[in-house]
Amino acid sequence: MGMNITKKILSTHLAAPSDMVPGEEILLKVDQTLTHDINAVMTYLAFEQVGLDRIRTECSVSYLDHNLLYLDNKTPDDHIYLQSVAKRYGVHVSRPGNGICHAVQVARFGAPGKLLMGGDSHTPHGGSIGMLCIGVGGMDVATAMTGVPMRLTMPRVVKVNLTGSLKPGCNPKEVILKMLQLVTIKGGLGNVYEYVGPGAAALEVPARATIANMGAEMGATTSIFPADAQVKKFMTAQGRGDQYVEMLPDEDAEYDECIDINLSELEPLISCPHQPDNVIPLKDAEKKRVQQVFIGSCTNASYADIAKAALVFKGHHVNDDVSCTCAIASKQTYRELMRDGYIDMLLAAGVRILEIACGPCCAIGQTPATDGVAVRTSNRNFKGRAGNPTAKIYLVSPESAAATAIMGTFATAEDIMGENVKILGEIKEPDQYIVDDSMIIPPLSEEEAKKVEIVRGPNIKFLPVPEAPTQYLCAPISLKGRDNISTDDITPASAEFSSMRSNIPLMSQYCYHRYDPEFAARAKVMGKSIIIGGENYGQGSSREHAAINPMYLGVKAVIAKSIARIHKGNLVNHGVIPMLFEDPADYDRLDQNDELEFTDLLDQIPTRSILIKDKTKDFTFRARLDLTDNEIAVVLSGGQLSFLKKQLAAEREK
Ligand code: F3S
Repeated sequence: MGMNITKKILSTHLAAPSDMVPGEEILLKVDQTLTHDINAVMTYLAFEQVGLDRIRTECSVSYLDHNLLYLDNKTPDDHIYLQSVAKRYGVHVSRPGNGICHAVQVARFGAPGKLLMGGDSHTPHGGSIGMLCIGVGGMDVATAMTGVPMRLTMPRVVKVNLTGSLKPGCNPKEVILKMLQLVTIKGGLGNVYEYVGPGAAALEVPARATIANMGAEMGATTSIFPADAQVKKFMTAQGRGDQYVEMLPDEDAEYDECIDINLSELEPLISCPHQPDNVIPLKDAEKKRVQQVFIGSCTNASYADIAKAALVFKGHHVNDDVSCTCAIASKQTYRELMRDGYIDMLLAAGVRILEIACGPCCAIGQTPATDGVAVRTSNRNFKGRAGNPTAKIYLVSPESAAATAIMGTFATAEDIMGENVKILGEIKEPDQYIVDDSMIIPPLSEEEAKKVEIVRGPNIKFLPVPEAPTQYLCAPISLKGRDNISTDDITPASAEFSSMRSNIPLMSQYCYHRYDPEFAARAKVMGKSIIIGGENYGQGSSREHAAINPMYLGVKAVIAKSIARIHKGNLVNHGVIPMLFEDPADYDRLDQNDELEFTDLLDQIPTRSILIKDKTKDFTFRARLDLTDNEIAVVLSGGQLSFLKKQLAAEREK
């Protein structure tokens, strides 16, 4: 049988021979990495500690794109540190205002067939150009930058066969919302979704990016499209046609599963609070009054997205009861939209144009009112994601968002435009993009880089290093969580909280702040403790603070029914042992404050089966470790930094 695209790319990046059997660990040589400002400080603090003079990837980029509100000294401290540390080690910097990491990476750095590891869960966005892009924790990015091979569990590859074509007024957002309806938020775990077929061939690169980006919401390892005529056109329009290589599946390519979607049958969809897979046809949604509309984010703020939204607004005005904002994904796209008159259309309609940044998507501004209903084109609608746990967030396409802003309640482009909706189908991406990399600072020469002084303002604290596990552990349960706890629940987002992420002692005080405000103080008093979780623990953002902060507060293990992929990796990296209930029914027998005893833990870890005694209720139960040999070694070393230092020391001795 022939090979699919995923296997083709993985096979050319193997750092050790492998049969690439799904579920088995493979080691990969990474070409590119990306980081962004609100997660990256820990990544570069870790890289500083490994003792290398320069990164060993082909290209690493540090984006200053998420938190551009300088509310106090903290964020500028972070940005100045990130800019100086990048100069010191040979990393590109994309300056504030240049654009959101994923949009810029695809436009200016990505290339078909490459392997990218990004410190952000929506890194799969780059799958739109036939590049394999995997979201990981910051410590994994630091590891990739050292040139040490990355460990990855070999995914299953699912073929998504797209046929037909999207109707005008329908956006690629409907495709990924449909996928979420079919697959659910945890159904994609361990899978790569490979989109092929005539329907895929007709989608332009930014349209593909919307779909690949939100594969993260299914818990997938990544998503990918072929590198074909659309990718060639895009890269040529970016002035990088010479970096295009064709990347197609073989005709008889083998897949582990197949999903068929006829694009012609899709209609505008809406994801309802508080999970992205809570998807229904928009016309069936209860007509609630909407207070806020946000058009933007890495998911849905391309040229075509914003131009179509502007055309829906043409001749109309934002409803008096709605605050409508728009954040465009990159400076490049902003300038093109301005050139072609679409920004003026938005302004004329009363849309408030925000800075080019993530902004509202990660609760940096535009928090909804108490019990407010907000409609967004971004990718997550978890409770509290927008900064206010009482708000209800609905996810739709830019076309539907514009119609909603006009009507003040859920609406589609067709509701506003009637038959004229067909003009939306004529909007295409530019044949030639405005290429201006003046906001990207390239790396210095090795010689010059060595002279750079790294600037550490008062917000740049230390990277806490976990203790290695001990043979005996006795610790109470500090928190028992429900299903689908997200990293937003563990480490809340907002302009204020995001600027604390370089300062673990401070940020830790707000661990689980919106979910259980007493948690941090309770865990601190307990000293050592255990967290209990339900299904899909740690879903959502890749932020490793959701592992670092509990570790800093003394959490030694998480025992859950299932744990999301990136978060499991982050727990391993930061010395918190991720355990899974052998019998999920044991979850119900445990309560907060129960004291759990682990004996012979160091001997039990390599067996991957841990006997635990609930001393409070006097019963025993078992947890298993769904970890590879490498991950077991990392756990026993007390986290990835200690493990990596040992690996690099051994390399130097050779
Ligand atoms: Fe930024 Fe939101 Fe995308 S935080 S990277 S716009 S998911």
